[in-house]
Amino acid sequence: MKNKLLAFNWKSNKTKIETKDWLVDASSVEVPEGIQVVVFPPFTLLDVMNGYIRVNSLPFSIGAQDVSPYGKGAYTGEVSAEQVKEFSEYVLIGHSERRSNLKEDNELISKKVDQALSQELKIIVCVSSLDELSGLKPEGLVIAYEPINAIGTGNASDPKDVEEMAKKIKDVGFQNVIYGGSVNSENIKTFLDLPSIDGALIGGESLDPKSFINIIGNAV
Ligand code: 13P
Repeated sequence: MKNKLLAFNWKSNKTKIETKDWLVDASSVEVPEGIQVVVFPPFTLLDVMNGYIRVNSLPFSIGAQDVSPYGKGAYTGEVSAEQVKEFSEYVLIGHSERRSNLKEDNELISKKVDQALSQELKIIVCVSSLDELSGLKPEGLVIAYEPINAIGTGNASDPKDVEEMAKKIKDVGFQNVIYGGSVNSENIKTFLDLPSIDGALIGGESLDPKSFINIIGNAV
């Protein structure tokens, strides 16, 4: 069976105490064969989560939600790829919330990708259209297709449209495409069963450990 990636994006949610509670409750998760799980907490929680996951041998990895477009140096507020790499195996780049709230464009996103590649981080780049692939080279990238109107709305996209778009992304050379937008434990299998889809990026439903466990359980 082909491996499927389940990526859980916490966005700007949870404090340290809330995270410890989540980790305790999520510890009973069983990850089926062929499924790979990554959780993306905010930067402030990477260390706590990394430590807990290692000590308790939990069956998932963690990733950062962003990375600096620069290396180390005088870049106040930025977190370099080298710093991310100390805690994370993965990084998420170009989420639509950053593209729209912080006006991140394709050029900036390409710089972030270059930094992440230089540290051999595993990279997920989020796009909502084919234009947003511009400037990216397929090597080493997972593309998360997240249609804006499906994010956080409870209205997941029509699986037929998702398959069509994922196929187009693959046709231009990207080998791994995952879908994000109102994924839950009820619809996860439908998306994972699409021939051109290699996983899912989950937002809201990742915050409750029960939903997290159910999504993973229903993935096969
Ligand atoms: P929701 O699952 O809350 O729709 O969020 C999707 C998303 O933006 C994941 O990065």
